Amino acid sequence: MGKILVTGGAGYIGSHVVKLLNLKKKEIIIIDNLSTGKKKYVKNGIFFKGDIRNKSHLYKIFSNHKIKSVIHLAANCLVEESHNKIDEYYENNVVGTINLLDLMVKFKVENIIFSSSCSVYGYKSNKIKEDDNLNPINVYGETKKVCEELIQSYSKAYKFNYIILRYFNACGADLENNLGEDRENETHLIPLIFKSIQNNKPVNIFGKDYKTRDKTCVRDYIHVQDIARAHFKSLSFLRKNKKSFIFNLGTEKGLSVLDIINITSNVLNKKVRYKISNRRKGDPPYLVASSSKIKKKLNFTNKYSDPRLIIKTAWKWFQSIN
Ligand code: UFG
Repeated sequence: MGKILVTGGAGYIGSHVVKLLNLKKKEIIIIDNLSTGKKKYVKNGIFFKGDIRNKSHLYKIFSNHKIKSVIHLAANCLVEESHNKIDEYYENNVVGTINLLDLMVKFKVENIIFSSSCSVYGYKSNKIKEDDNLNPINVYGETKKVCEELIQSYSKAYKFNYIILRYFNACGADLENNLGEDRENETHLIPLIFKSIQNNKPVNIFGKDYKTRDKTCVRDYIHVQDIARAHFKSLSFLRKNKKSFIFNLGTEKGLSVLDIINITSNVLNKKVRYKISNRRKGDPPYLVASSSKIKKKLNFTNKYSDPRLIIKTAWKWFQSIN
């Protein structure tokens, strides 16, 4: 039986993916440089602290383990930060992916599942389909677009298969409350709303002058355990079928920043204070997925992405680590 290499397996999404793979009795190898992930959240598999930019370290891992599939999540993934660290984003996201693809070819690995992002799309105003044109408006989205192109051309040349998952907004926490978001410098909306409640300080709304329903940005919030389930489903598919696909991973439901504030207030029965601030660089006004392709091809539907469950699980987790 071949093993599965998970890059970025100590991160927020990676740790949920690893937990599910372990429940499904898979043999897992994890590499993570722990720049944002934490070792304590890797509870299963064989762990290597390392960087995908370090090709010789990756080479050793591939030589010592019979890797059959790669799940590639390791990346720098913050929209605003990507504008201040362009070289780091390209190096980590793009050069790291090239290293991985080179070694996949060398060691004849059959499959890759790649974490892409709805950031590849840019300005859209309707539910986004996978074949809509890609026009990223931030550096992070650009790096993901380049990685997608690399994977597609390597796959054509070297005959391996891929599933590219374009996540929309990952959120929520493990229902058993063992895992969740835990970053040193938090920038994401939901944990920042929780912090504002905890500190009794207003949360910032970045821009209330967008051309959306209530003038704040609209996103598609998907529970992290649904994201993990989609990885497992993709892996099973790739092992049975020699086909490659790109899928959106969202809910088809658009929620504005104000909607999220209101739902949080309602679910927790707490007042959320907010103030309007300037727009944040690189934020597209509207990103909502069409999910029909993954439903049709993989028969995949979400189980945990009800916004109230997202807030409940995320709040429980937030309280347990703060
Ligand atoms: N926002 C605020 N106030 C905050 C934080 C966020 O108003 O304090 C707004 C943002 O402007 C944005 C929305 O809330 O409109 C969501 O912001 P997040 O930072 O939570 O998430 P992003 O949409 O910026 O980005 C996240 C991931 C990316 C991924 C993207 C997909 O960080 O990796 O979701 O949309 F690509």
